[in-house]
Amino acid sequence: MQKQENIKIHETAFVTSTFRSMNENLSQDFFSKLWGNEKTEIWIKEYLKEVSSEETFAHCLRNRYFLDKIREVIKTNNIEVVINFGCGLSMYPFLLDEKLVNIEIDKAEIIEYKKSKVDIWQTTGALPKRNIHFIGVDLSKDYEQKLLAKINSIKNNRPCFILIEGVLFFLNKEETNKLFDFFNLIQNQGDLIGSASFQESLKETLAFKKLIIFFGGNVSKTGESDYQTIQDEYYRKRKEYKLIDHQDYFSLSKKYEHKIELEKDLILNENFYLLEKSS
Ligand SMILES: C[S@@+](CC[C@H](N)C(=O)[O-])C[C@H]1O[C@@H](n2cnc3c(N)ncnc32)[C@H](O)[C@@H]1O
Repeated sequence: MQKQENIKIHETAFVTSTFRSMNENLSQDFFSKLWGNEKTEIWIKEYLKEVSSEETFAHCLRNRYFLDKIREVIKTNNIEVVINFGCGLSMYPFLLDEKLVNIEIDKAEIIEYKKSKVDIWQTTGALPKRNIHFIGVDLSKDYEQKLLAKINSIKNNRPCFILIEGVLFFLNKEETNKLFDFFNLIQNQGDLIGSASFQESLKETLAFKKLIIFFGGNVSKTGESDYQTIQDEYYRKRKEYKLIDHQDYFSLSKKYEHKIELEKDLILNENFYLLEKSS
């Protein structure tokens, strides 16, 4: 593969999955290795060398955190449905209780691909059977009415957990506001949102500058203004929601006993938020 070949946004899903498979003990994701392929391996090698070598652990810890949190709230909040917006190739349905209903949402091309592979792997026994509804949607387009009808017919007003990780970086403010309003529309009191995003201060780090150089040469987006960051206040000030947990790479490393090797400036520190609908 030539380095100047562009990585498409949906292809970042392969990169995320491969990172998770590189330390299964930390990520607790024993299925993401199924997505492994040579092209992604090459991206990953370059990415770890040119951007930040902590990225493997960052992605493993993110998966671990949300996996543990979803397991927890299934009990505390009686969650029955998990809706993953921009699900990419993540494997939560197969890692979580089989009683759950899973709604997997992403761009049509990734959803079609994921569904076709999952169907094959469930037939061969490589993946356990799960209740999954795949929905292809572009979150930067007009989707609300149709998606609302689809989700309502599946969810049937049952308690739900919404996950949005690795996606907001690629959306703009307006699209993000629309999405959170949409979450509010489909959720009831006691339902939860798990969200991952970067803070504005990330842009001052050397790791981010390296990322922009890497993406500039390798991804279709080029300028740093293309990448959305979100401040804590965005989550704190949501009228209908209460922020009940906030972690980042450093706190999760402590929690899951991962020893950080690099200095702060060389780490893409992602923040993780858990919101509970209060009214
Ligand atoms: C870095 S991947 C993360 C995937 C997954 N959430 C995970 O953590 O493994 C980003 C995902 O966001 C999806 N995405 C980006 N922009 C999108 C849009 N406008 N509509 C739907 N999905 C989008 C991509 O297709 C991709 O699967």
